[in-house]
Amino acid sequence: MSSDGVNTGRRRFLTAATSVVGVAGAVGIAVPFVGSWNPSAKAKAAGAPVKADISKLEPGQMVVVEWRGKPVYVVYRTEAQLADLDKLTPELKDPDSAISIQPDYIEGSARAIRREIFVAEGLCTHLGCAPKYRPEVGAADLGGDAWLGGFFCPCHGSKFDLSGRVYNTAPASTNLVIPPYFYESDDVMVIGMDGEAA
Ligand code: FES
Repeated sequence: MSSDGVNTGRRRFLTAATSVVGVAGAVGIAVPFVGSWNPSAKAKAAGAPVKADISKLEPGQMVVVEWRGKPVYVVYRTEAQLADLDKLTPELKDPDSAISIQPDYIEGSARAIRREIFVAEGLCTHLGCAPKYRPEVGAADLGGDAWLGGFFCPCHGSKFDLSGRVYNTAPASTNLVIPPYFYESDDVMVIGMDGEAA
């Protein structure tokens, strides 16, 4: 492992992969992205991975990255938000993600490689609307004190926690889908491709 946290094996791999690695676009907060690659529209449509620079993402913030024409949510969760996740187990349909889609290397209530950074497709598992990011604890329109922050789908009212786990009361039946991803460095993630740990 070199001093910048990228081992040489992965560096060689990424050098070979850069021809198909795209650059993420962002909606929402302004987060700069790595600008060294410019895949063709055809490569993007085929599902080329995208890179996202999360160095400017602050605790509590979310950025949206586009991959395969779909929104991918990247949320920087606070310690308090992470601590609340295990309180919700009785409220959730699939708290351990036993029937939900996520890579094998994602486990536990945090559903993330790096606990504080949550990554999931921003598509409701009911009928595909884009859930809203609603991190405000106690939001009156989402259940008051029972609401510990999460995502709310405005189409038919599905609620998900900050790990994208669906509430019992929702019409959606599974958790938000987690795409393959890995960290190229502390600040840059690659979405749409498994890393060496997979
Ligand atoms: S599409 Fe989200 S609740 Fe129906």
